[in-house]
Amino acid sequence: MQTIETISTLRSEINLWRQQGLKIAFVPTMGNLHQGHIALIKKATQVADKVVASIFVNPMQFGANEDIDNYPRTMAADQEKLLNAGCDLLFTPTPALIYPKGLDKQSYVEVPNVSDGYCGESRPGHFRGVATVVCKLFNLVQPDIACFGLKDYQQVQVIQTMVEDLSMPIEIVPVETVRENSGLALSSRNNYLTAEEKAIAPALSQNIQWLAKEIQNSNDFIGLAKKAASAIDSVGMKTDYIHICHARTLEPASEDDKELVILAAAHCGKARLIDNLQVKLT
Ligand code: PAF
Repeated sequence: MQTIETISTLRSEINLWRQQGLKIAFVPTMGNLHQGHIALIKKATQVADKVVASIFVNPMQFGANEDIDNYPRTMAADQEKLLNAGCDLLFTPTPALIYPKGLDKQSYVEVPNVSDGYCGESRPGHFRGVATVVCKLFNLVQPDIACFGLKDYQQVQVIQTMVEDLSMPIEIVPVETVRENSGLALSSRNNYLTAEEKAIAPALSQNIQWLAKEIQNSNDFIGLAKKAASAIDSVGMKTDYIHICHARTLEPASEDDKELVILAAAHCGKARLIDNLQVKLT
């Protein structure tokens, strides 16, 4: 696996593959890789001939109150994991390469509606930063396919909408969330949890599952979501939001909707954890 830091080398390597007619899958990441990322790489190896990953801790998607400097950076271990998972090329640009004019003068991509609520409300500007960097990375790598983890369900909808709205010729492949045995979704943020916090954190996924069962028999979506939030708070977490939404538009679910998603976020100690579950009503 090659690690490439410059745009010219990235483009020439990828052009060689294109000339050979090879199909390219791309997995953008911010590093500090865990089994959830590895599942993305494995999926990418199944759907394409060549796999490109990127590691870039994107300053544009961090809020002023979010500590980008302390975001875990584990490049050597990440390279080893990518190599073992079958990645062919790793792109590791610097912020100066991606944003040479600085963030203030950078053009950006804003994806309306799906970016607005939930994590978009709790983290203003976050999805603008995600859409902009992913658009830019797509233009650099020009993949046929890109794989994203469903743990970040709203992010997947933002990217899918961007690709459709801007006619990008890229297939987005969502990949199932990888979980610990306790049900806790794998996330780099789990590193911030103490042993006590780790013991209570599965309450997030447990209550989402409870809610998924309840809404099969009742359309009191708001009342049931409030109950789930109280149950999450009762173990010592602090619910940021828990909502039942239309699976594609992310609008609050109406009585007639059948394809739903439960989206939730909760603070657990220093970590803000997110999780979700897609639900089909019968
Ligand atoms: O999911 C992530 O790790 C990031 O939001 C992404 C997609 C790599 C963009 O920086």
